[in-house]
Order: sequence, then C-alpha cells, then structure tokens
Amino acid sequence: MITQIAVATTVGLLGWAYLALLKPPPPKVCGSPGGPPVISPRVQLNDGRYVAYKESGVSKEKAKHKIIIIHGFDSSKDLMLPISQDLMQELEIYVLQYDRAGYGESDPHPKRSVKSEAFDVEELADKLQLGPKFYVVGLSMGAYSIPGNATFSVLLFNELNVQRRLAGVALVVPFVNYWWSCYPAKLSNEALGKMLAQDQRTFRIVHYAPWLVHWWMNQKWFHSLSMMEGNMAIFCPPDQEMLKQLSSAPSPGQEKVRQQGEFECLYRDLIVGFGNWDFAPTDIKNPFPDNEGSVHLWQGHDDRIIPRELNCYLAEKLPWIQYHEVPNAGHLIIHNASYCETILRKLLEKQ
Ligand SMILES: *[C@@H]1O[C@H](CO)[C@@H](O)[C@H](O)[C@H]1NC(C)=O
Ligand SMILES: *[C@@H]1O[C@H](CO)[C@@H](O)[C@H](O)[C@H]1NC(C)=O
Repeated sequence: MITQIAVATTVGLLGWAYLALLKPPPPKVCGSPGGPPVISPRVQLNDGRYVAYKESGVSKEKAKHKIIIIHGFDSSKDLMLPISQDLMQELEIYVLQYDRAGYGESDPHPKRSVKSEAFDVEELADKLQLGPKFYVVGLSMGAYSIPGNATFSVLLFNELNVQRRLAGVALVVPFVNYWWSCYPAKLSNEALGKMLAQDQRTFRIVHYAPWLVHWWMNQKWFHSLSMMEGNMAIFCPPDQEMLKQLSSAPSPGQEKVRQQGEFECLYRDLIVGFGNWDFAPTDIKNPFPDNEGSVHLWQGHDDRIIPRELNCYLAEKLPWIQYHEVPNAGHLIIHNASYCETILRKLLEKQ
C-alpha cells in the first residue's frame, strides 16, 4: 500500500514537473485565433505548412540568376542585407528570402530536422517556380540545411533531382556541430573549450538532454546561452563595430522573428543543429563533379561564434569546397557591403 502511494506520488510529481517546467507552451501560430496576423506572402507546402517569403532584385522572369538566402539563428526573411539595387541590376539577380519553419510567419514544424529544412528549400523553389537552376546562400545556422549527403544529395539529388537544379552554394560562416563524428575528438573538444562556459554548458544540454532545453533556457539560476542575454563577449572587435552600425538602422520586422514562441524557432534550431546527425559533412560527395557549379565556404578569421578550426578542417577534407578566410573579420561578414558583394560575385562566377 505504502509502495503504491509512493509510486503514485512520484509519477504525479514527475507528471507535474513535466507539464509545469519541461513542456514548452504551444506555439502561437500565425493566422490562428489569438495568434499574430499573416502579413507577408506565403506558399503552402505539400504537408500543409505555410512558408512566408520576401522577394527582391530583378523579377524572376527577367533575372539571369536566382538566389535563395537562408537566414541564421534568431533571424528571418526580413534580414536586411547590404545588396544595393545597382548591384542587383548589374548581376541580374532575383533574391528570395524566407522564414525558416517556426520563425516569423512560417508555420512551426514539430518534426523539423536537418532533412526537412533542406526539403523546405526545394519545395519553396518549386512552388515559386524558380525554374531549372538556383543558387543557395546559407548564413550561419541556415547553412545546415544546405547541400549535404543526407540533405540535398541523398534526399533531394536522388529523389527530386535537385542536383541538376543547384547552380552553386555559398556557406557563409556555417554552423558547426561539435559532435559531428568526422572531427578528431581533440579538435572539437578544444574548439568547444574556447566557447564561454555558459555556452558550453548550454550546447551540452541541447545535445545530451534536448527535453530539458525549454526549462534550461527559461530558468534564472544559471546563465544559459550568452547570445540571449546580450553578452557581448562572443563578438570579436570587428563584430562589435558592425553591431554598432546595425543598431543604428535595425532591420524592420525584427519583432516578428520569435512571435510564434521561442521553442519552435530558437530552441528547435539548437536541438536540430546540435543533435545527433546520421551523417557527417565529410560524407558529402561533391555536388558538382563536372565543375558545373561551385561550393564556397566563407569564414571570418576572428569569429568567436563559429570556431574557424572546425570549418578549416572540413574544407581540408572536402577539397571541392573553396575555402575563403576573411582576415580581421568575425561572424557578421555578410553585413559588410563589400564582403557581401564579393561573396555574391564569387558565387556567380563562371567556372
Ligand atoms: C552519401 O554518403 C554515403 C556514405 O556515407 C555514400 O555511400 C553515398 O554514396 C553518398 N551519396 C551521395 C549521393 O553522395
Ligand atoms: C568592410 O570591409 C572592408 C574591407 O575589409 C573594410 O574596409 C570596411 O571598413 C568594412 N566596413 C564595415 C562597415 O565594417
């Protein structure tokens, strides 16, 4: 009898703890009763989710090149990039930005994964009729949805034939997962060890105990992710300089980034990114064996958010990646108009 009561109490307490502390609140879906309004154009994907997007540059009918830009962590399609109208006209580019699942005005995707992120790009290109070829630019966290063996190649290259469709790829300060099996343990441990202690703790919790993430990110006893606390230590001096300039002209729409709830955008991003991948980037085959396109990786030398050693290592292992290291620069290189222009010109360069 006492055992039964003890068991019942424990189960009850655990249930309460789960509901009260660990279970994230449901998202406030855009366009649902009580949810934020839908303002931007959206397309519906085959699974019923809506994806919001923003187009700029030359109209897609006239453009010579079409570029899909994938935003990073805590960002959205409204991210303002320093690409002038003149440059768009000169390069004859059409630029498509979209809200990744759960961000801004795009529906959350409870089954979000590395693969689903890549599928979304492909489907979006189809629904918007981007035509036979398009370029992809992935920024930071947005770069994990790009051309992987498991992402673009296995799923999309084979099943949907996207290999024929990818014209070129730029990975700009791409995200790294310290648990990718391709890294020598010493290298990834050292790189992780360079992060702030609170970020190391957070990444470990995300990786080993994703069910704890909602509680961890909202508790007040310990510091969690430094970026969410406005801690400037993760920004190198060039990044701090850039942030000062950006804060004088903030991107409009910034308030919409997390409007559906932090779990579906930010936390899910971390959980997917730092989770267990069933492949390593080094398994990826060259998507352009006949040199019909190119893959560029851009890394700021002083980046404190994405350690250069790890991306350098990938570029050494994957000789078909053109590695560009930008001196005296950090994580925010895409916001510098001259680097942004260089990145686009390189991407569009004829092979
Ligand atoms: C993906 O990687 C596996 C090995 O991990 C390899 O056998 C397969 O051929 C690769 N597929 C493509 C399309 O590159
Ligand atoms: C952008 O980069 C260029 C080239 O390194 C540099 O001269 C310039 O100061 C940078 N601009 C900003 C806004 O940081």
